[in-house]
Amino acid sequence: MKYRNVLGIDFGGSGIKGAPVDTKEGSLLTERYRIPTPVPATPEDVSGVISQISVHFKWKGPVGLAFPAVVQRGFVKTASNIDKSWIGINASKLIMDKTGLPTYVVNDADAAGMAEMKFGAGKGKKGSVLLITVGTGIGTVFFTKGKLVPNTELGHVYLKSGIEAEDFASDAVRQNEGLEWEEWARRFNVYLHEMEKLFWPELIIIGGGMSKKPRKFLEQITINTKIVMAKAKNEAGIIGAALATKANRDFFR
Ligand code: BGC
Repeated sequence: MKYRNVLGIDFGGSGIKGAPVDTKEGSLLTERYRIPTPVPATPEDVSGVISQISVHFKWKGPVGLAFPAVVQRGFVKTASNIDKSWIGINASKLIMDKTGLPTYVVNDADAAGMAEMKFGAGKGKKGSVLLITVGTGIGTVFFTKGKLVPNTELGHVYLKSGIEAEDFASDAVRQNEGLEWEEWARRFNVYLHEMEKLFWPELIIIGGGMSKKPRKFLEQITINTKIVMAKAKNEAGIIGAALATKANRDFFR
């Protein structure tokens, strides 16, 4: 059965946010509802929060969840920024059991990318497009001819200095190390040059919380590739998660 309205939920480092999404329009049907991410973000506590969000909206339809790790056929494979006990868990099943609702789980950057390719900054782009989400971690998603390459983990590439990109230029690093915006932007620029050199995309889209603050860093960016902010700003995760319930048809062919 094809549902137009899906409850999209984005599991982020500081908040778990959800809203019913009109998947045809790519828009939220109501204001989003946010609950702080439990610490530690264990499967039990996070699935409890997701269930609370579905109850808040009195939701009876399908749920799409944007998840901050590698997810294959519902199973969580990595856990850089979440509790390690997630690894090996069938997240789709866990949340389905908890909410009683059909649930589809997808990597958060993949979700944001789907939303932007369908409704936002990547709409109609047939060449290669790299979307980078910057938040607690660095997430990436790569499209070519409008098709998604799932679970790319380019936030974990090692830079020349021997540091993983995510440990050098995420927003969490900026905050934890108390970096000035200029210093953070210089670091992010190093990362973008690496991505440009390795992938030569036609377009780079910046997603996640950072897409709301282009003025803080864009001036320091010196790559030649065209770079734009995600149109859905940090709602791309919620919208993309909702789209993901239909994603097999649209993006994975
Ligand atoms: C994870 C990715 C995720 C990104 C953004 C990274 O640490 O490995 O799977 O997309 O954070 O949440």
